[in-house]
Amino acid sequence: MNYEAVNKLEATTRNGASETAAPLPSLERQLLLAAAEGDADEVARVIDLEADVDYQDEEGVSPLMKAAEGGHRTVVAALLQSGAPWNAQDKYGYCAGEYAMGSGHQEVVDLLLDFAVQAELVLGALQRRMQVGSGAAVANSDYLNQRLIYRGEQLLDAEGDAVMMGWERPLMLRHAELICPGAREADETTTITTISAAAAEEEEEEEEGRPAEGTEPSVAVAAATPPSEGSGNVSRTGTQVQGRRRGGGGRVLNVGFGLGIVDTAIQSHSPERHTIVEAHPDVYEHMVQQGWAERPGVRILKGRWQEVLPELLADAPYDGIFFDTYGEYYEEMREFHKHLPHLLARNGVYSFFNGLASDNIFFHMVYCRLISLELASKGLTVEYEPVAVGSLGDEVWQGVRSKYWHFETYFIPRVTHGESVELVEEEGADQGEGEDRAEKEEGEEGEGEGRERAGGEEEGQGEELIQATDPVGH
Ligand SMILES: C[S@@+](CC[C@H](N)C(=O)[O-])C[C@H]1O[C@@H](n2cnc3c(N)ncnc32)[C@H](O)[C@@H]1O
Repeated sequence: MNYEAVNKLEATTRNGASETAAPLPSLERQLLLAAAEGDADEVARVIDLEADVDYQDEEGVSPLMKAAEGGHRTVVAALLQSGAPWNAQDKYGYCAGEYAMGSGHQEVVDLLLDFAVQAELVLGALQRRMQVGSGAAVANSDYLNQRLIYRGEQLLDAEGDAVMMGWERPLMLRHAELICPGAREADETTTITTISAAAAEEEEEEEEGRPAEGTEPSVAVAAATPPSEGSGNVSRTGTQVQGRRRGGGGRVLNVGFGLGIVDTAIQSHSPERHTIVEAHPDVYEHMVQQGWAERPGVRILKGRWQEVLPELLADAPYDGIFFDTYGEYYEEMREFHKHLPHLLARNGVYSFFNGLASDNIFFHMVYCRLISLELASKGLTVEYEPVAVGSLGDEVWQGVRSKYWHFETYFIPRVTHGESVELVEEEGADQGEGEDRAEKEEGEEGEGEGRERAGGEEEGQGEELIQATDPVGH
């Protein structure tokens, strides 16, 4: 196509000199085409002519998505630099990162992830709108004023949205095992697998050129899968977590009781002291009815964690901490994380319900990295352990207004005191304090398990979408 000629006509049309050149592609259409072809020069030229890089066609497809799908790294970089939004979604809800994943272009996935994480650190657009718990878009104050219903293995709010559901039980059991010093940590292998481009293509055939709906497009992660059991198309890298016995029952803190699944599991690991923070009056009443207030070693703090924070800090440090609230945004969780260096013992383990952006795998990955980075700035290290959830059928969601989990894999965070790294943007006031605290405890308790990090520099590890061993994701 003679783009120069097209542009002259395009410019004339835009200036109103001619209304008859309609069939010619707009600058934006040219940009879409050039991006799909990976024609970096043409992309630069059309952008110079002020083509709108935000453009999305009638299917919601943007030039960035097209470039990502084609694996055109230079074009993707140019579009991002020119302001193309990394988080735009097509009409099926897929973003550029998923287009890259869907066609197996790991380099482009990494580029988009890095860009997205940096953009989020600076602008925080995703952070502010994303809820930390299950899916309902309800403010914490509104939620706390609603009547709740306990129905079997479901805890529902007044709108019929799920506050907590029984399908999470295996995840909660694992969270409890990770944070409880009394739990024996068996030898285990966590394995992250990335389906090869060939496998991704097969998936794509089902959905004609766009990522398969309702699935994690080219990424599947299998927990503890021995390499020999995988299919031929799957490349994998294992990360060994050394088994060890962690002595003593310890002091454990859980924020958010819900169905009490995690607290029951914590109890099974015989903590010396078990503190539970719960804000909702109906949940509190349920806990009392169930006899939690009389359990030896259990202390219930009634109120929002924000309100009881002084008591939590006075009682700190804790050997294990779990955070799983409802109706709170990422901003609130970040606020909680600010206090972690003080709350968490030197050898302690922190974990949280990892449900951020649970309807979009790429946004979810951005969050995993974002949280890792933000915690790293506080001297904390995050490892993500993949656990297979499988496909949750419609029967699981019966009676619940909205489905809040869409992936087949859940990444369990294991947070420990580790190395501190610098962030581009961060409130710095609390950072030093946390490190001092950690050093002080180290002096008291000696070099510890909290510093232990999984090893495993196997070939190909750099290709993993989420790296269990590296909080920064590089
Ligand atoms: C998803 S449920 C927790 C489920 C729990 N992990 C389990 O195993 O059953 C969230 C709980 O957090 C409580 N909650 C919500 N906001 C809170 C806050 N700001 N402080 C403390 N608890 C809160 C809710 O009332 C609810 O009981």
